[in-house]
Amino acid sequence: MNPRTLLAGFTACSCLFACTPDKQTDGNATAPETGTPAQQTESVRNEPVTPIAPAVITDTAMVELGKKLYFDPRLSLSGFISCNSCHNLSMGGSDNLKSSIGHKWAKGPINSPTVLNSNLNLAQFWDGRARDLKEQAGGPIENPGEMAFTHELAVDLLESIPGYVDEFSAVFGTEAIDIDKITTAIAAFEETLVTPDSRFDLWLKGDDSALNDEELDGYKLFKSSGCTACHNGSGLGGNSFQKMGLVEPYQATSPVEGRSAVTGKDADRFNFKVPTLRNVELTYPYFHDGEAETLAEAVEVMGRIQLGRTYSEEENRQIVAFLKTLTGTQPRIDLPILPPSSDETPRPDPFGD
Ligand code: HEC
Ligand code: HEC
Repeated sequence: MNPRTLLAGFTACSCLFACTPDKQTDGNATAPETGTPAQQTESVRNEPVTPIAPAVITDTAMVELGKKLYFDPRLSLSGFISCNSCHNLSMGGSDNLKSSIGHKWAKGPINSPTVLNSNLNLAQFWDGRARDLKEQAGGPIENPGEMAFTHELAVDLLESIPGYVDEFSAVFGTEAIDIDKITTAIAAFEETLVTPDSRFDLWLKGDDSALNDEELDGYKLFKSSGCTACHNGSGLGGNSFQKMGLVEPYQATSPVEGRSAVTGKDADRFNFKVPTLRNVELTYPYFHDGEAETLAEAVEVMGRIQLGRTYSEEENRQIVAFLKTLTGTQPRIDLPILPPSSDETPRPDPFGD
């Protein structure tokens, strides 16, 4: 079975709990309904959060090609920036910076979200402007503030490298390389970047000893105070757009406007895709402007501006302890060895000389 089918099935299943019909909701949060888990295996607890399914890789050659492209800095004008520069798989698929550094040290406008489990998102980017991973993957290559290349240059570059020509033709059955094939391969690799078997998932599957009392109390508080209205499903987020600052306005330090940039509707101003809380311990700093440096700070802000609730120090500690149980098994990556450039390969231009 292809991993997409498997995961799609899984997400549909989590929607039973998650008050988000068909993965698509814009706007108002409602409390999750906990229904009868029709497709769940009996051993999974009936909760608004469901476990992450492991990746099922059917097309190994495609995934390997996508991995090379993900790690290849030659897809940038400088020859120095790869997808992994800003979505570092040694650091939870993020760069741990407030906002990313792009071509010629450009300061990005927004915090880099993790690529881990991004296949579960209803759409990609904070404002959801890309429909899926394949559509997303073309963006950074030609973004002047990120990799500063063009799709044509990327294709020319790869076609000048015999190792890539052979590999593309083995995977796709045709010689010609195009941006569609490039983004298809990158997306196939990203589909494998899932993190199953977190301690919380083990608990969901029935292992009482997977969480200690503080962590379990933290989860109960997370649920009873309403965090699960927005952070639910297998990603604990990623399945709806919600207002940042529902009960109290949020003073962002970034100029971005959120979902309204895509829909043109004023009502969507400052709505953002709810970020996944999977591996959140690894993906600091937090929020689209990267202003919350610690989990304690993010939890304090969320409680106050989304729910009108001030947590005691102990309650905050419990929720943070729970959030840290969401760190799953990280994808094991053998660093790919990239095919060397040929004499014809355009040379990098790191300083714009
Ligand atoms: C210079 C840093 C930088 C580089 C290089 C970069 N990204 Fe990103 N990426 C970002 C930032 C910042 C965002 C969020 C932008 C936004 O939402 O407006 C993002 C968003 C994403 C998302 C959406 C995740 C989500 O939850 O919405 C995915 C997936 C992604 N990038 C994959 C890639 C891939 C694949 C590449 C290589 C082709 C790449 N990125 C290159 C910084 C970078
Ligand atoms: C009304 C929906 C909603 C509720 C309720 C809510 N959140 Fe959020 N959460 C969001 C949105 C939207 C963001 C992203 C906002 C932004 O960055 O501008 C977010 C971001 C976060 C982040 C930062 C993640 C990251 O990677 O940047 C954490 C941590 C978090 N929420 C935890 C919580 C906790 C804990 C609660 C309960 C106290 C909670 N949230 C309640 C919608 C919600």
